Amino acid sequence: MSYKKSDNTYKNNLTIPKKVCILMGSPHKDGNTAALCKPFIEELEKYGVKTKYIFLYDLNINPCRGCYSCQNVTGKYGCVINDDVHKIMEKIIESDCIVLATPIFSWYCTAPMKALLDRHYGMNKYYGSATGSLWKDKKVALITTNGYEKDYATTPFEQGIKRLCKHSNLEYIGLYSVQDKDDLASFTSSEAVTGAYNFAHSILDRLNSK
Ligand SMILES: Cc1cc2nc3c(=O)[nH]c(=O)nc-3n(C[C@H](O)[C@H](O)[C@H](O)COP(=O)(O)O)c2cc1C
Repeated sequence: MSYKKSDNTYKNNLTIPKKVCILMGSPHKDGNTAALCKPFIEELEKYGVKTKYIFLYDLNINPCRGCYSCQNVTGKYGCVINDDVHKIMEKIIESDCIVLATPIFSWYCTAPMKALLDRHYGMNKYYGSATGSLWKDKKVALITTNGYEKDYATTPFEQGIKRLCKHSNLEYIGLYSVQDKDDLASFTSSEAVTGAYNFAHSILDRLNSK
C-alpha cells in the first residue's frame, strides 16, 4: 500500500474500530520517546483507533517472583502480587495491538518495562494446571529511541520481543526507531515525525488485515 507523505493521507479507514495500548517505558514525559509517540498516536486516532497511553514510570510495577501461582489460575491473569500490573494487563487484554515504546537502556528496554514483560507469565498458562491464553494473536509493535545507530542499538531488544511473541503466540508487526543525534531535535524533525506517521499507517494496515 502507498501513502502520500506530503499531505500525510492514509489510504484506508479502519473497517471496524480497533484498540491500541501504548506502554510507554521512558522516564521522561516530554523526552525523546514521548516526542515520537505523540504524532504516532495522533495519526492512529485520526483514523479511528482508540488508544490507551500508559506511562509505566508512574505505576507500581514489581518484579516477578517466579512463584508460578498464576499457572494454576484459568481464565484470569492470576498473579499473587497486588500492584498496578493487574490493571495494565486488563488494558492489554482489551486491546488489539500492544505498542512497547522505550528508550534503549543497556541494549534493552527500561527497567519498569522489563519488569512488566517478566510479569507476562500469567497471560500464558503453560506450566501448571491452568490452560489457555489471555492474549493469543494480539499484535505487538515497538517504538525505540537510542543513542547508537538503529541495528546496533535495537537488535537485542527486538530479538527478545520477537521470541517472546513466538513463545506467546503473539504477532510481531515491526519496529520504528530513531537515533538520538541531537537530543529532542532528532525526534521532532519532519523526517522523524513523517516516520511516526508512516509507522502508524503500517499498524493501521495490519489492524485492517484481520
Ligand atoms: C541509563 C541509560 C542507558 C542508555 N543505554 C543506551 C544503550 O544501551 N544503547 C543506546 O543506543 N542508547 C542508550 N541510551 C541513550 C537513550 O536510549 C537515548 O538518549 C533515548 O533517546 C532517551 O530517550 P528519553 O528522552 O525518552 O528518555 C541510554 C541512556 C541512558 C540514560
